[in-house]
Amino acid sequence: MKKLTVNQIVSKLEQFGFKKTKFEVKTVGKYSGLDSDWNYKDVPHVHNVHSQIDQSIPISIGDKSAFFVNLQKIPFVSITLPLTVTIYEYSRFNIIYLASFGPYIIIINTKILELDENNCETTTEYTILTKGLFKLFFSFIKKMLLKNYSKLMSEDVPMRDQRGRLRENDHFFFLPDETYSFDFTTEISRNNVRLNENKNKSLSISKNKIFKNKPYIIGEKNGIMSFFITYDENINIWPKTCPHEGANLSKDCLKKNKLSCPWHGRSFNPIISFDSFGNLISKDEKIYNVSINNDDIQIVFKN
Ligand code: FES
Ligand SMILES: [Fe+2]
Repeated sequence: MKKLTVNQIVSKLEQFGFKKTKFEVKTVGKYSGLDSDWNYKDVPHVHNVHSQIDQSIPISIGDKSAFFVNLQKIPFVSITLPLTVTIYEYSRFNIIYLASFGPYIIIINTKILELDENNCETTTEYTILTKGLFKLFFSFIKKMLLKNYSKLMSEDVPMRDQRGRLRENDHFFFLPDETYSFDFTTEISRNNVRLNENKNKSLSISKNKIFKNKPYIIGEKNGIMSFFITYDENINIWPKTCPHEGANLSKDCLKKNKLSCPWHGRSFNPIISFDSFGNLISKDEKIYNVSINNDDIQIVFKN
């Protein structure tokens, strides 16, 4: 695929009389460079996680490039405008976004630098281009973009942080390539969370103890071997981590006895459901193998 660098795009536009202004912002965090790469390419979270984007309509999603129409809330002026957005990976950890906004062309270049295995710095460089009198509004457009950036980061960084915490706790994430593909992120029914070899993948727990002590969390404190329990008409055991890409799940994610993941909207049944007398109502073995022998409940992570 033939691709242009930001400088090549800018110099082509300058040949037609466009003038530019540039600025950059950085975010440093305790997560892998791949978590930042994933977050920028993750198509389905845009609709679920970002409050500034009313709708994100994927038009064409490829391996290393994607094209959207976003209905974007514009900061300060409280209106929603359609923005056509083109995104492509120029090279590993170097992603370019291009959008036009009235008489302005906005180019955003995101570069990810791995400081070490679990820390990374993401630099986002904005270039705004326009012609003639519209240059007078450069500082206003810059203010809008900065406000939008801080809102986006307040919603994106917790996703990366969660994955950073899981990595620290011996989890990792399957990906089929050296970097993420836009296409791959749309397969939300995949289970990409994995546990390192040294981690125990099974939990054995007494049913009687659960009924007597009513704990909220069983198993590990967090991660894929941690579970939360709800005590209503039935006693339901739920996963505390989404097996797709690692979102933290809790009773706040329950809607009508279904667990709905806040990142991409995948929904889950309880892993095990008992009635109030301790009789098994159902079990769901999509993520774990589940066996119940008298008092002993065994939950084994499949991946
Ligand atoms: S992390 Fe993707 S659906 Fe939960
Ligand atoms: Fe995002």
